[in-house]
Amino acid sequence: MTPDFSAAERAALYRAIALRRDVRAEFSGDPVPDEVLERILDAAHHAPSVGLSQPWRFIVVRSLETRRSVHDAFRRANAEAATDYDAQTASQYEALRLQGILDAPVGICVTCDDDPQRGNGLGRRTMPETARYSTVCAIQNLWLAARVEGLGVGWVSIVEPDELRTLLEIPKDVAVVAYLCVGYVTHFAPVADLERDRWETRAPLTDVVDYERYGGRAVTVSSAINEKA
Ligand SMILES: Cc1cc2nc3c(=O)[nH]c(=O)nc-3n(C[C@H](O)[C@H](O)[C@H](O)COP(=O)(O)O)c2cc1C
Repeated sequence: MTPDFSAAERAALYRAIALRRDVRAEFSGDPVPDEVLERILDAAHHAPSVGLSQPWRFIVVRSLETRRSVHDAFRRANAEAATDYDAQTASQYEALRLQGILDAPVGICVTCDDDPQRGNGLGRRTMPETARYSTVCAIQNLWLAARVEGLGVGWVSIVEPDELRTLLEIPKDVAVVAYLCVGYVTHFAPVADLERDRWETRAPLTDVVDYERYGGRAVTVSSAINEKA
């Protein structure tokens, strides 16, 4: 079948994937218009979901006061996280910039109903965790849509979910999946911050693709994604 997308459209999608970044430090602070925010939320809401259950919910946080409280929660969790490492790694960890909670004008807390009414349980009998997976698919849609809108997104997981639960009045039976910092950026970094800061490298595709069985290796698998494009 001939693809429904032209070569240029296909290239644009791969380009958006390659140039998406997790943004922490480059937020410009410019306001995000409601209609742009709605477009990226709509992209999120068009994600696949187990049984079409759409278990996600997006809490948009613009209030500086609330973002200050989220930032305080991040600082507490981050100080705890640093204690997991030996002295040398801890000092490297402490130098990393791991959030943009106050610099990004919008926060989006993404939650998941682990036992949604919608979808009549389809697919969750064997894999109940697929509700969470669906929610993460929604986040990825949002992240890519944001990238083409010129908006950076930074995923903050270094925060106790129960602190977000209390702050944002999230019911006990609803899971906190992510807190996203969203805003226009001065620029998008060419490579992942954690690569630049020598914390970790992006593994080659060959390392993660198996054939026929777990560990069944190909000699090489070529990648068409070029982060520097
Ligand atoms: C589930 C998840 C949680 C993450 N949590 C954090 C976080 O708490 N702080 C942070 O700075 N980056 C966080 N990140 C961003 C990753 O560090 C980032 O995606 C990775 O280094 C690759 O960089 P890139 O997204 O720019 O390609 C998270 C990403 C994911 C998918």
